[in-house]
Amino acid sequence: MASIVIYGSQYGTAKKYAEELARKTGFAVCRYDAIVDINEFDAIAYVGSLYAGGVMGMKKTFSRLASCKDKTIAIATVGLADPADQENVRNIQSGVERQLSKDVFRHARLFCLRGGIDYSKLSFKHKTMMRLLHGKAKNLPEEQKTAEVRAMLETYGERVDFVDFDSLDPIVAYLQAMEPIACEPS
Ligand SMILES: Cc1cc2nc3c(=O)[nH]c(=O)nc-3n(C[C@H](O)[C@H](O)[C@H](O)COP(=O)(O)O)c2cc1C
Repeated sequence: MASIVIYGSQYGTAKKYAEELARKTGFAVCRYDAIVDINEFDAIAYVGSLYAGGVMGMKKTFSRLASCKDKTIAIATVGLADPADQENVRNIQSGVERQLSKDVFRHARLFCLRGGIDYSKLSFKHKTMMRLLHGKAKNLPEEQKTAEVRAMLETYGERVDFVDFDSLDPIVAYLQAMEPIACEPS
């Protein structure tokens, strides 16, 4: 059975999680843009960092999957927003749903991981995006600040690292069970 951990990562947080997940499962690991044919794998774990709700590389990667039949698919997002907050998880989930076909979304099991940020390392484009976002968010009335917005305000300009490899354990358990979700007729 061919199994792989695929990742999309700009600054290395999702890559770190992906490499640890590969170590814990024994799966191979590969950047999303180096995958030749995703269809050859029976078990696929995708680990992608969140940028404005988008999961880096995920849409492109799964658009090449011809069928989900008999596949085990786990998708893990890596973001600053705290996955212990259900509102964050709902937002992430609806974003992921928009970026995938119905078939892939139904078959995939979603996990949310917490990453980190180092403002001193951000690209000019990302620094600008965060400055604009911060400028808007800091003036919002308190009741309009979502958990995601609050997390961004609290960590703005800083270096924070919430990476926790133990949070990979439910993904490892799911992948090791290796039970493909039944394929519904489309
Ligand atoms: C421009 C920008 C947009 C971001 N958007 C989100 C977001 O929508 N949700 C979230 O939880 N985190 C967001 N983040 C935080 C990143 O997801 C977080 O820093 C992650 O750990 C980066 O992963 P990487 O190091 O693998 O690139 C954003 C960060 C930047 C710089």
